[in-house]
Amino acid sequence: MSACTAGILGSQLLPGQSSHAQQPTPPAHLGPEPHTGPGTTVKLSFTVNEQPADLELDTRTTLLDALREHLHLTGSKKGCDQGQCGACTVLVDGRRVVSCLALAIMQQGRHITTIEGLGTPEKMHPLQAAFVKHDGFQCGYCTPGQICSALAMLHELRAGVPSHATEDLAALPQFTPAEMRERMSGNICRCGAYSNIADAITEVEKEGVL
Ligand code: FES
Ligand code: FES
Repeated sequence: MSACTAGILGSQLLPGQSSHAQQPTPPAHLGPEPHTGPGTTVKLSFTVNEQPADLELDTRTTLLDALREHLHLTGSKKGCDQGQCGACTVLVDGRRVVSCLALAIMQQGRHITTIEGLGTPEKMHPLQAAFVKHDGFQCGYCTPGQICSALAMLHELRAGVPSHATEDLAALPQFTPAEMRERMSGNICRCGAYSNIADAITEVEKEGVL
């Protein structure tokens, strides 16, 4: 067998080669194998959209998976699952949290709000209505996260919480396009509906309906 043929066949042994050669020891710098066996389960209780939720979960379960897989609230989306896109944003005690990076076990006793808790098709939240009015979405995958994030962002602004874009840290931050874009920068829209999203949020802020 030529060297070329052996390369194509990959796993086929050459004469005199031992099967040991196929299972090299992982380099020491990679550390021990990750633990993939069954985990420990815990009971926990929190409130989701003002309804009590009592669950028994593996301690490694994220808040996003608890919501989607165990409570079947699939409005919050799993985009990157790495805290990079904001599609999974929910409110925990009124503060926005990327739920793919939050462990469910840390939410004991907390109040969670998801997009399902903000409004219904018949009775939309003002931000939901503004997103519809301004075409603030295309595929809609980022939209639940955008709306939850925008809601908490407007409350943060009113409470005077500064951001990286806040120029005068001694003064109350103002709602400006730059301030809004900085504060919403954790929510990515792959469809690029940013200008319409900004129009929707701006309208709600100007109308003062929250
Ligand atoms: Fe959580 Fe992307 S899915 S930030
Ligand atoms: Fe498609 Fe934002 S509307 S990702």
